[in-house]
Amino acid sequence: MSGKFDAIYRQSIEHPEVFWAHAASELHWFKTWDDVIDGSNPPAARWFSGAEFNTAFNCLDRHVAAGHGAQNAIIYDSPVTGTVRHISYSELLDEVARFAGGLAKRGVVKGDRVIIYMPMVPEALVAMLACARLGAIHSVVFGGFAAKELATRIDDCQPKLIVGASCGIEVNRVVAYKPMIDEAISLSKHKPAHCIILQRDRARAEMVPGRDLDWKDVIAAEPHDCVPVAATDPLYILYTSGTTGAPKGVVRDNGGHAVALNWSMRNIYNMERGEVFWAASDVGWVVGHSYIVYAPLLYGCTTVLFEGKPVGTPDAGAFWRVIEQHKVATLFTAPTAFRAIKRDDPDGKLIGNYDISSLRALFLAGERSDPATLEWAEEKLRVPVIDHWWQTETGWAIAANCLGIELLPIKHGSPTRAVPGWDVRVLGDDGHPAKPGEIGNIVCKLPLPPSAFPTLWNAPERYRKSYFDHFPGYYETSDAGFIDDDGYVYIMARTDDIINVAGHRLSTGGMEEVLASHPDVAECAVIGVFDEVKGQLPLGFLVLKSGITKPHEKVVAEAVKLVRDKIGPVAAFKTATVVNRLPKTRSGKILRGTMQKIADGEAYNMPATIDDPAILGEIEGALKEVGYAHK
Ligand code: COA
Ligand code: AMP
Repeated sequence: MSGKFDAIYRQSIEHPEVFWAHAASELHWFKTWDDVIDGSNPPAARWFSGAEFNTAFNCLDRHVAAGHGAQNAIIYDSPVTGTVRHISYSELLDEVARFAGGLAKRGVVKGDRVIIYMPMVPEALVAMLACARLGAIHSVVFGGFAAKELATRIDDCQPKLIVGASCGIEVNRVVAYKPMIDEAISLSKHKPAHCIILQRDRARAEMVPGRDLDWKDVIAAEPHDCVPVAATDPLYILYTSGTTGAPKGVVRDNGGHAVALNWSMRNIYNMERGEVFWAASDVGWVVGHSYIVYAPLLYGCTTVLFEGKPVGTPDAGAFWRVIEQHKVATLFTAPTAFRAIKRDDPDGKLIGNYDISSLRALFLAGERSDPATLEWAEEKLRVPVIDHWWQTETGWAIAANCLGIELLPIKHGSPTRAVPGWDVRVLGDDGHPAKPGEIGNIVCKLPLPPSAFPTLWNAPERYRKSYFDHFPGYYETSDAGFIDDDGYVYIMARTDDIINVAGHRLSTGGMEEVLASHPDVAECAVIGVFDEVKGQLPLGFLVLKSGITKPHEKVVAEAVKLVRDKIGPVAAFKTATVVNRLPKTRSGKILRGTMQKIADGEAYNMPATIDDPAILGEIEGALKEVGYAHK
């Protein structure tokens, strides 16, 4: 049944050079490569070394030159502003070339970094592609992060410029972005030369004379040509949560990234050039980078840029309206979006109001797809619903049901099998290969396929230590799970401190760092607790310093505000509880895993090294008080 898939998969693992060289031949290279894989600098493989390439050229100029200039490149659908705008490939090329000209006029050259802090507007894509056109490295920061997080990224990647907008528009409020940019720059040591600001009518920004430039003035420049870069040069840096508070700057190269994404459009998503693809995510996340921007444009599709939410813009029928109106062939989103829709429209009644017959498949990723949500989507949409698993580090799916090759049987709870290029294994903590069905560390045998991150920005040692040292010869995904007898992969949990809130990856360690900075807090712990819509929510346990007489509710409210101010609303940190002490081992290590098990209502063995077993009852009580603990 899986003969075709098996043959392609085998070739990708046994002859990766042949496989990926063939995939690369679909793109335009200014100069072809010396080596398909250059393994001279392990653990990273450098793909297409010696080649010269430009990602923006392949996204835009190539299609216009082939006569597809009149086709829609972007459909911007923004229920929060009441706008629908179609942008053709020719128009997008013109805007990108002119904005690149404007950046070049302000001194941006190949290798410079540019931070982009914008909501879901076409200008965000224009800015990303203009950087790519110049060989500058963009770093998009999600709008739900607070000024301090932005400042950390400014200091790490030292951008020449920041491109921002005056505001973002959420369902319930307008978020002024510009004051956050100003505050971030006042906090950071590195000071970007300019901020280019898109003024939106809903909240106009105050400009700093000399430093701030209006988007309109910058884009009024002469168009700039594509600058060829090495295929191995960075295209972007995307910061993601790491195991400590400091975010990791995941670096993506140009050539390998484009080859893998272009390949994925046909083989995973079963798309044809010219069709409409919709990734309902945000450009601030990896899904947005790969499947709102780069993959659809590389492949010559039309991408839908949706500024709104699955519910509340105006109701839980927003997705069906967009599918009908723009004839979407494939929708990609996080399961949390479907849980939100299901909550508001449990019987899927609103679907009947729209003609969604253009839709051929729904892809879900970003967090575990719970079978109930998956079944609901299958029943209501009557198209294959495909869970697939990936990470910021990889930029595309590690495991998926490759619809464009052949549809393998769907097993609920599994993102199906390793995608061609990925040699996925499960190892025990001591490195022994796990048997089928045995839970262990999910790892990928080196070399990693194209698009996988070649390094962390400014942190090559952290790259090696975090991902490659524990299991030599393998990439450690930090996901735990198993592979069954049919080769299906199951992702069960993270092995680090990462939690997944509404498909957003967050570090509990990062939140603990913020909570610990509260003057009344002696120590703290944050765990992820079950939430019906967001999958997980962070919950804080606070131990107060002795002698604090302030009411607990006040400390909790301050702690919640602190996390919102320092990390941002995206952390969705709304609940904390004050406890007398935390469960610890005799050597003083906080037993977060055991606390987690109590919150999840799972059976747990009393840890042999626990300092005082009685504390677990107190934790259970505290969880019940704030409405958690299933036991
Ligand atoms: N700029 C500013 N604030 C933002 C923001 C942005 N770009 N994105 C989110 N926020 C804010 C939200 O307004 C919210 O603030 P609040 O606490 O004042 O309500 C907070 O950050 C948390 O956002 P979120 O977790 O998205 O919750 P939500 O209740 O607004 O929406 C869902 C929940 C499920 C509808 C929404 O998360 C969703 O559509 N998710 C699916 C798609 C997706 O984003 N996937 C990610 C990777 S594939
Ligand atoms: P991010 O880097 O933000 O894309 O988050 C990556 C993490 O999200 C992975 O390491 C997993 O823990 C989780 N994840 C992503 N997709 C899936 C999936 N399909 N099933 C289970 N977990 C997933």
